[in-house]
Amino acid sequence: MSEPFEILLVWSEVVLQVPAGVSAAKVLIDAGVPIDMGCEHGECGTCSTEYVEGDVIHKDTCLTEGTRQHEFCPCVSRARGRLVLPF
Ligand code: FES
Repeated sequence: MSEPFEILLVWSEVVLQVPAGVSAAKVLIDAGVPIDMGCEHGECGTCSTEYVEGDVIHKDTCLTEGTRQHEFCPCVSRARGRLVLPF
């Protein structure tokens, strides 16, 4: 079971809760953040989104280790604690 975590949209000054079992992509899209969706399985990279800081638990199979330092796939990936996004 996936753990809940929090997303801070730093420019909007909005904190979003990502419940266990719900994707970050769904929470972000519901909040109006423009995320393009593709496979929804961590395979295509279409949803790849920049983050500023946070302890991301990467669950995709498409991003390189280098890209993972500043982007994550919110369709499958999660975080520990608070993840900060530049929105
Ligand atoms: S939608 Fe394909 S990796 Fe997220």
